[in-house]
Amino acid sequence: MKNIVLIGFMGTGKSAIGKILAEKLSFHFYDIDKIIEEEQKMSINEIFKKYGETVFRDIEADIILRLSKLEKAVIATGGGAVLRDTNVINLREKGLLVCLTASAETIYERLKNHTDRPLLQVKNPFEKIKELLNLREQFYKKADITINTENKTLEQIAGEILEKIKLTTIQSKNLIQN
Ligand code: S3P
Repeated sequence: MKNIVLIGFMGTGKSAIGKILAEKLSFHFYDIDKIIEEEQKMSINEIFKKYGETVFRDIEADIILRLSKLEKAVIATGGGAVLRDTNVINLREKGLLVCLTASAETIYERLKNHTDRPLLQVKNPFEKIKELLNLREQFYKKADITINTENKTLEQIAGEILEKIKLTTIQSKNLIQN
């Protein structure tokens, strides 16, 4: 089975669902933001403040390149990881891209009391969420599987992902045989 790579906007549940999936599959779970913070010994907020977004994206790309070589992995990416084509190419090499989605309203509700997303530390975070969702739609569309996370439990979402992966795998096997 391929690696599972969770992509999607902030607040769509990539980390929480990634952990559940990894447990269910006995795969190893990798949370890119966590790895960045551990390796840099700094929070994402501090990295953005001290070095800026481009340096953060370079660090992110470097970790993605390393993780892309692993097997039996569930990888939770940061919401902006798919903005670089090379990241998408690397992650796809051994992984199936699963995009988690939610509406701007839901994302805002889920994140409004969090201060750990530097891109949303602005006057009007709801407008910023809508703006970024718009800009990023084309990148999230590159996923192999898309799952709406609205009004579902984490367990339900994880179950749905596994079902869809099974279907996608069967379909691609059939395509090869026919
Ligand atoms: C970002 C998403 C964050 C984190 C950083 C930038 C983004 O990860 O990587 O704050 O550009 O969308 P989550 O999606 O896990 O919140």
